[in-house]
Amino acid sequence: REIFYFDTLDSTNLKAKELAANEQKEGTVVIAEEQTNGRGRLGRSWSSPKKKGIWMSIILTPEIEPTDAAKVTQVAAAAVWKGINEVGVKTQIKWPNDIVLNGKKVCGVLTEMSGELNRLNYLVVGIGINANMSDEDFPEEIRGLATSLKIELNKEVERKELIGRILNNFEELYEELIHNNSIDKSIKICVENSALIGKDVRLILKGKEEEAKAIDISKEGELIIQDKNGDISKIISGEVSVRG
Ligand code: BTN
Repeated sequence: REIFYFDTLDSTNLKAKELAANEQKEGTVVIAEEQTNGRGRLGRSWSSPKKKGIWMSIILTPEIEPTDAAKVTQVAAAAVWKGINEVGVKTQIKWPNDIVLNGKKVCGVLTEMSGELNRLNYLVVGIGINANMSDEDFPEEIRGLATSLKIELNKEVERKELIGRILNNFEELYEELIHNNSIDKSIKICVENSALIGKDVRLILKGKEEEAKAIDISKEGELIIQDKNGDISKIISGEVSVRG
């Protein structure tokens, strides 16, 4: 696979989108030591200090429907979870794509796509991992909510090794999805290591706050929830938090 490595970038997702628009190469990876304009979900910014974390994006050109992008997000979450697990840290996956440790966020995934209604041109899967950050490396306003592998482990992690493991896992799980049309392995990882499944959660649906129980993740990558009347529904994206 081709890897583009940069000392500094505004955002690896932006760079990946630029590359994808020009040559569209499946599996190309963009990595930066530092991002000056790292982006998170919901228009948030993502703090990405130099050499303290893993800031990378993968370009993908799968022949899937745009609505299937949620599957790729689950594949990415599973690949990251497995990679971190292989270096000795047991984290949890908070659907749709956060990785948490002791209730605090260590990794986020930002999947962006380009395409028309029923044709996908490309996907960019951006992965941000707080690997070796200290508390003071985080912006003050997120200090209580974010953590790093180093803070929890009390030692630095080998970023190169972790990148290699995550990319290998991603390749394996993604091939399963694309060539065997099977997402079972990824969903199994996401369900078994979920921070939400089996818990009472609070979620924002169409601007309204609701309470429900998270019960499963579907093969489409949706969260399956049950409300207090016992009604079951599926949600494709959203902000979910554990109650209590
Ligand atoms: C989130 O909000 O949880 C998603 C965060 C995603 C951050 C990563 S870091 C590499 C890539 N480039 C970006 O600008 N964002 C993603």
